[in-house]
Amino acid sequence: MTFRNISKEALVGSITLGLVFVVGYLFGKKKSSRMSISKSHCGGKDNPLMQYVLNHSMREHPVLKNLRLRTMEDPWHIAMVACEQSQFMANLAKLIKAKKAIEIGVYTGYNTLNMALALPDDGVVVACDISEDYANIGKPFWKEAGVEQKIDLRIQPASKTLDDLLSDGQAETFDFVFIDADKVSYDIYFEKSLKLLRKGGIIAIDNVLWGGKVLNPSHDDADTLAIDKLNKKLHRDARISLSMLTVGDGLTLAIKL
Ligand SMILES: C[S@@+](CC[C@H](N)C(=O)[O-])C[C@H]1O[C@@H](n2cnc3c(N)ncnc32)[C@H](O)[C@@H]1O
Ligand SMILES: *[C@@H]1O[C@H](CO)[C@@H](O)[C@H](O)[C@H]1NC(C)=O
Repeated sequence: MTFRNISKEALVGSITLGLVFVVGYLFGKKKSSRMSISKSHCGGKDNPLMQYVLNHSMREHPVLKNLRLRTMEDPWHIAMVACEQSQFMANLAKLIKAKKAIEIGVYTGYNTLNMALALPDDGVVVACDISEDYANIGKPFWKEAGVEQKIDLRIQPASKTLDDLLSDGQAETFDFVFIDADKVSYDIYFEKSLKLLRKGGIIAIDNVLWGGKVLNPSHDDADTLAIDKLNKKLHRDARISLSMLTVGDGLTLAIKL
């Protein structure tokens, strides 16, 4: 695969965040693919600058590393979050002293594990997926890392789980949400998550650049259209402040006002 460096930015050298560097990179024209591939998975072998970033910032927990290596054996490993993006989000969660998080789209649970490691002992990650097959790959690693009790895995459509949390009286109690499941439902996930979030909480939305396809959304590509529509909506949404980062496949941070 080839990708084009369009920007690079060193991000935050603060003590709180430690050495987190973000290199932004975008695809040029890319063939159609449901899952994003413009991310490193901690390899970065095609891009020396990305490799430099990883070499000088990654502090991957040993069990997290083993889960990543196990995930790379799975045919769908391209679905896994970028490791530097996951570390960045874990740092953000610590920065806002998050206790309650939601993962929408678990796959093998790399980011779920990273989030669980970042949360305090009484923290919880509500982990949403429709399939348990991939989560079953992650579970032994969650256990080995000693954080399985912080992970509340719910196998059903994420929209239903978010409704359950709302009707359970948990509105305005969550600190951090990561949206990384089916793209056509992103807007629904965003709206329900915003209700569940406390003021000052963060919704992180993955794949907002969708391999560059947002530049030319084709009318028959429902995923790209849904992402582009949400990007436009969030830009003028007065309920949040936001940043769109060129980390991974594009990551929007929406902070609830
Ligand atoms: C991109 S992967 C998630 C990657 C994961 N966040 C990580 O850290 O590696 C997307 C996941 O969303 C799940 N998914 C798809 N549709 C869903 C739905 N309606 N509700 C919940 N999960 C869904 C898929 O089964 C898949 O595991
Ligand atoms: C990154 O680290 C690897 C392993 O130590 C090394 O082989 C490689 O040259 C480094 N690359 C950069 C760009 O720092």
